[in-house]
Amino acid sequence: MPDVPVVDFHSHILPHMDDGSASLEMSLAMLRTSRSAGVDIMVSTSHYYKRKEEIDAFLERRTKRLEELLPCLDSTCCGVVPGAEVAFYFGMDEDPRLDGLCVGDTRAILVEMPFQSWGTYEINTLSSLCYDRRLTVILAHYERFAESQKDNRLYEEVLELPLYVQINAGSLTGGWHSRQWLKMFKNGSAHILGSDCHNMESRPPDLDRGREVIRKKLGEDVLHRVDRSAAALLLGLKPGRGDK
Ligand SMILES: [Fe+2]
Repeated sequence: MPDVPVVDFHSHILPHMDDGSASLEMSLAMLRTSRSAGVDIMVSTSHYYKRKEEIDAFLERRTKRLEELLPCLDSTCCGVVPGAEVAFYFGMDEDPRLDGLCVGDTRAILVEMPFQSWGTYEINTLSSLCYDRRLTVILAHYERFAESQKDNRLYEEVLELPLYVQINAGSLTGGWHSRQWLKMFKNGSAHILGSDCHNMESRPPDLDRGREVIRKKLGEDVLHRVDRSAAALLLGLKPGRGDK
């Protein structure tokens, strides 16, 4: 199979940016641990909350943290692509500055949905982001919202939109529902993997463990499809979403 970079599409590796890495040393340890586990690129998806700050202030802060971190990277570290984990907010589909939160130079945006039952407003906003704003929406850790849904119909209806689903590696390595999320990778309704790592202790980089589960349970072809999807999204493309 051709070489495709291994991408961790969800991480909190910037120092002093959110509830992730607490120091430059920790950030470097996270990047080195991931690199030695075979990860090539980490998308840095620091939390963005509209209620806390405006997008421009967030981007200014992010630039400072990147300027602190990037000169320290060497060949033992993963490459870093800036992005954000954008917490869903009222009117986000009409926010003129929203594009600034996309991953790198792409139109891909990682959206963290509310931890409460989704209604038609949430679904319509996602639809508007996809069709009107023409953004490539990636739903962050889709699996983490299952328990807060009162209406499974809407939770599943979201998957009919032309968006992408990211699952956390840790959700594949244990727990009652891991088979359900694996099945989503198998049938093509989940597309990319992230570690959602926050530190080196309680939420360390673990993309390799999730990858290993996919390889063992679903095979090398499915893992390769996941890698290709992440690489394509980083290039600003829209990979195939697979069969449901
Ligand atoms: Fe996260």
